[in-house]
Amino acid sequence: MTNKLYFIANWKMFGNLKSVNSIDNVKKLSKKKDFSKAKIIYCPPYTLLQEFVKKTKNTKIKIGAQNSHDEIDKGPFTGSISPKMIKNLGADYVILGHSENRENGENNFMINKKIKSALKAKLKIVFCFGEKLQERKKKKSNLIIKKQISHSLSKVSNFKNLIFAYEPVWSIGTGKVLKIEDLKKQFIDIKFIIKKICKIKEPKVLYGGSVNTSNIENLKKIKEINGFLIGGASQNSKKFIDIIKKTIN
Ligand code: PGA
Repeated sequence: MTNKLYFIANWKMFGNLKSVNSIDNVKKLSKKKDFSKAKIIYCPPYTLLQEFVKKTKNTKIKIGAQNSHDEIDKGPFTGSISPKMIKNLGADYVILGHSENRENGENNFMINKKIKSALKAKLKIVFCFGEKLQERKKKKSNLIIKKQISHSLSKVSNFKNLIFAYEPVWSIGTGKVLKIEDLKKQFIDIKFIIKKICKIKEPKVLYGGSVNTSNIENLKKIKEINGFLIGGASQNSKKFIDIIKKTIN
């Protein structure tokens, strides 16, 4: 792996005010020289965003939200949060296109609108995509990935603030990960697809799906991976630190 490596903690619908303190150790480590190779981003639930922003002030750790509305600023959308509201809190990132939200009805067209609004609000995007198990079995992974990328990024031209995250749906929270040689091949294909569709030279593509303290030793061997989007294992700061250390050492 080259350049900076991303370690994005996706806390999903977990965490309370007490759990904010669990990042103290990560904060300490983030100041060490070795850790300058790691770009650490925490994406807690909305309810904890402000606490996280306060806690990570004057550190290199960045904060992101897990979703945002397609309307950039405000409107009569009960229960929704706009990208400007997120930016206003002091967060810099937002995860969009996560399969758990696609499951809840988000489609590529909606994700496209969300991405455009979030970029306008000057947020950085972590754009998720990936195939379902049936699609992989039918050897349709690349077809699905192409569709997700080209539709969700239609008429998007500013890729400076967009990171890609390949998350095979069947791998999220299941402990199942592709064989290393298959994942490497998939990453080579994905980078080729992105370069072609988005016309960018060096896309940053993260891997997400059951990353843990054991499989990281193998995953880090794949040079095409620019970092990890970590769900379950990121809620435990010891495990999260262990994953970062094992990757950068
Ligand atoms: P997981 O989740 O690490 O728990 O599989 C990853 C994600 O959904 O981003």
